[in-house]
Amino acid sequence: MLEIVLVLVALFVIYYTHLLIKWKYPKINGVPVHLPPGSMGLPVIGETMQLLIPSYNSIDIHPFIRKRIQRYGPIFRTNLVGRPIIVTADPEVNKYIFSQEGNLVEMWYLDSFAKLFAFEGESKVTAIGRVHRYLRGITLNHFGGESLREKMLPQIDASVNDNLRQWSTQGAVEVKSAISRTSLAEGLLHLGMILKTRRGEKIENLPNFIKSLMSFPLNIPGTTFHKCMKDKDKMSNMVRHIIKERLINSPDERPGDFLDQALNDMASEKFLTEDFIAELSFGILFAAFESVSTTLTLAIKFLAENPLVLEELTAENEAVLKKRENPDSQLTWEEYKTMAFTQSVVNETLRLMNIPPGLLRKALKDINVKGYTIPAGWTIMLVTPIVHLNPETYKDPLKFNPWRWKDLDQVTLSKSFMPFGGGTRQCAGAEFSKVYMAAFLHVLVTKYRWSKVKGGRITRSPILLFPDGVHIKITSKRD
Ligand code: HEM
Ligand SMILES: *[C@@H]1O[C@H](CO)[C@@H](O)[C@H](O)[C@H]1NC(C)=O
Repeated sequence: MLEIVLVLVALFVIYYTHLLIKWKYPKINGVPVHLPPGSMGLPVIGETMQLLIPSYNSIDIHPFIRKRIQRYGPIFRTNLVGRPIIVTADPEVNKYIFSQEGNLVEMWYLDSFAKLFAFEGESKVTAIGRVHRYLRGITLNHFGGESLREKMLPQIDASVNDNLRQWSTQGAVEVKSAISRTSLAEGLLHLGMILKTRRGEKIENLPNFIKSLMSFPLNIPGTTFHKCMKDKDKMSNMVRHIIKERLINSPDERPGDFLDQALNDMASEKFLTEDFIAELSFGILFAAFESVSTTLTLAIKFLAENPLVLEELTAENEAVLKKRENPDSQLTWEEYKTMAFTQSVVNETLRLMNIPPGLLRKALKDINVKGYTIPAGWTIMLVTPIVHLNPETYKDPLKFNPWRWKDLDQVTLSKSFMPFGGGTRQCAGAEFSKVYMAAFLHVLVTKYRWSKVKGGRITRSPILLFPDGVHIKITSKRD
């Protein structure tokens, strides 16, 4: 018996060592490749545990990345949740990778979609390109440009006013969850979806979903991931109901919004099924409001901690009101354009926020950069936040200082400010987000007195979170 156990142990050790060697010294077609330095940690779990150790109360990028940059330089390799990853915090390399979208690299999550949407004989890359063009076009059409200026700004203004009026009746509110709740409702409104289906179900639980992104993808009952997947299913089912209800009406009785456009396009775009539209709507809502609510919460925390900034912000926005014929009229695009300090507060918050540690891509071919090889199939993490904290561009980079934006020129910013990503995959909701945040701050500081009553701590674990929330109490200035 003992012998058998020993043999099994020996076999296991040999097998594991073999795995470890293959793991640590990968080859392409039998030829060893020159990988960037770094450690792959243990097989399967890699260095996941080290990344999941939260960092408390520092706005700096996650220590997992800081430490490794110090040890290995700006390009290193690691392994997270079972995937070999090259991390790059080298701005030149990042710019190059952004320029290779659809050629040497692809957005990692699109890869699994591609199989589903490729027409017969069509390559995966072409299929991704087609679906992506559609996604980007429909988002920009409804959330950008003219639609944003003409249709959305008044809607944003009205809904922010409604939300804050509600908050002012509630005692203390926790900003992140209150914004997620109301702006989620908002999102549905902007996507043109009615808030409740005819059966009266409410849509909630979206905020939980983000947790699943960085949790271990183990889909069994009891895990965070499992719960999040269930929340997600519930949400997309709800959207499915709404779609069904819409389709009962003829196209000219429908409101002509985002959802309608998608439903109308079903005739010409083969990949657009009811299921796909439900997932797409959910995906856009998620991309949109999780990041907007986090940015606004961080802005509120910074304002509460920096009374001089709040004072100047309030002065600028009150001056806008004074110039109006009717102080109660809505915020206009022209007014928004004059609010330079408000925009600086938004920019400065975006600079420090850096919700995820980096953006993910998948290498489609072997990529050679700076004498290293990134093997095909590997994940690439572009640490774009690194440029936001460069002391040569942003003096005293961890300090919240909106006044610094007076001295930053557009050429510098084009290289050193990328909260919405870079290249052809830049955020399609960037302009919408900035306008939403400015409008929110505008209403908050002109109509309300407010103070933080509790919370305000942050962690990066590894995404930016507020462990005890940011609680504020707001009261109308007219009371
Ligand atoms: C503060 C708020 C926001 C931040 C910081 C943000 C950030 C980003 C980033 C960094 C990317 C690029 C991801 C990558 O390259 O891997 C992205 C893509 C995207 N975002 Fe946002 N986002 C925000 C709000 C929004 C909103 C409000 C919408 C929709 C109305 C939106 C829709 C999208 C879409 C559709 C993409 C994919 C674009 C493409 O692949 O061409 N985002 N966002
Ligand atoms: C905010 O950042 C954008 C770049 O995204 C820049 O064009 C704009 O001038 C900045 N605004 C201010 C007030 O500095």
